[in-house]
Amino acid sequence: MNILVVGSGGREHSICWLIKKSPLLKKLYCIPGNAGINEIAICLTEENNTNESIIKICKKLSIDLVVIGPEVYLASGLADDLLREKIRVFGPNKSASILESSKSFTKNLCHKYNIPTAKYETFSIKSDAEKYLKNQKFPIVIKADGLASGKGVIIAKSINEALIAVDEIFNGKFGKSGNTIVIEEYLEGIEASFFAISDGNIIIPFTTAQDYKRAYDNNEGPNTGGMGALSPARNIDKNLEEKIMELIINPTFNALKEEGIIYKGILYAGLMIKDNFPKLIEYNVRFGDPECQVMLPRLKSDIVSIMLAVSDGKLEKKQIDWLDLSCLIVIMATKGYPDKYPLNTTINGLKNIYSKDSIIFHSGTKLENNQIKSAGGRVLGITSIASKLEIAREKSYESIKKINWPEGFYREDIGTN
Ligand code: AMP
Ligand code: GLY
Repeated sequence: MNILVVGSGGREHSICWLIKKSPLLKKLYCIPGNAGINEIAICLTEENNTNESIIKICKKLSIDLVVIGPEVYLASGLADDLLREKIRVFGPNKSASILESSKSFTKNLCHKYNIPTAKYETFSIKSDAEKYLKNQKFPIVIKADGLASGKGVIIAKSINEALIAVDEIFNGKFGKSGNTIVIEEYLEGIEASFFAISDGNIIIPFTTAQDYKRAYDNNEGPNTGGMGALSPARNIDKNLEEKIMELIINPTFNALKEEGIIYKGILYAGLMIKDNFPKLIEYNVRFGDPECQVMLPRLKSDIVSIMLAVSDGKLEKKQIDWLDLSCLIVIMATKGYPDKYPLNTTINGLKNIYSKDSIIFHSGTKLENNQIKSAGGRVLGITSIASKLEIAREKSYESIKKINWPEGFYREDIGTN
């Protein structure tokens, strides 16, 4: 099969890396890709691809399957447009993507169908939000309703912080995504990322991960897209998995059906777990980044045949097997991320890392005159897999020392808390 992966991050690099091992693959393409993906796939780097231009490319290259990584393409209806042209796709359609693209939609769905989540209110008028905040307990959580690359959530410890956050969001910090905000109860507990997979007929567990969202050690600093991750999550056993399916995933899948929405693809539930009871923090309609980079190296079954089973509605017959290993990733980001940071800085030393020790998934890189340059906030993901999490952790931190990139930084505590 000719397969096209859409996206340019570490997630897409890991998807390409695994697809590359599939016996079903003929040619692998990526739009637009990055310097790392370029080593294993044919990257089509034209800027500003639209859904129409992607469809044109698919027809020209006789693409048999398109895998959509980033949420923006899903929310724009790329899956719908491809299906209309009879091109197979892995990724949910536009109406299902609303689970991620509107936090208020998801909160209202949870409320209507009794799915456990934090108590909340939504606001489209700033003064109403300010008035509401006067009678609340702190900390409290303030979220831009729409997509914000994982940065649209502020945990305010006091009314002052909350008022500043509300002011910034309504003043356009996250663009139109902040025209509506959700203010919700702060949940205590330990977080976990739970992934399910659906073909539109059934939904089954995929695997789990833990993501480190804060920028700095000890979970301090602003929220980011993710500074590290490990898989499987250490706080989800079989019993809790069943509870999550019964209380959260199955009711959501059925609620969507009730609302006329068929979910097909990966469903990522961000959960808070306390006293062995899960509550939903948010849904994403795709693989997480960097969670994907630690889940896929553990997948034993052929990823392409799983994706085809999802797209063809045949998941029931499919067995999904996992290696009994732990995987961990440490992200290197440009100093300044998630706020302002320079681009185009020079990265050296990647060739000193042996693939038996760590896999380097590129998140934001480009190749310029044979030199790898940074091209984003999150730039590299140093990923290791081993029989024990501690070993994987040691390998990643050993490898990272070999990278010479003065403008980069990383957390020292991934996998320790
Ligand atoms: P989200 O983008 O909604 O996953 O939120 C990003 C991060 O903010 C989560 O991973 C949590 O660490 C934190 N967060 C979001 N909502 C809550 C909540 N209601 N209570 C506590 N922490 C939260
Ligand atoms: N790492 C969080 C996300 O992909 O949304």
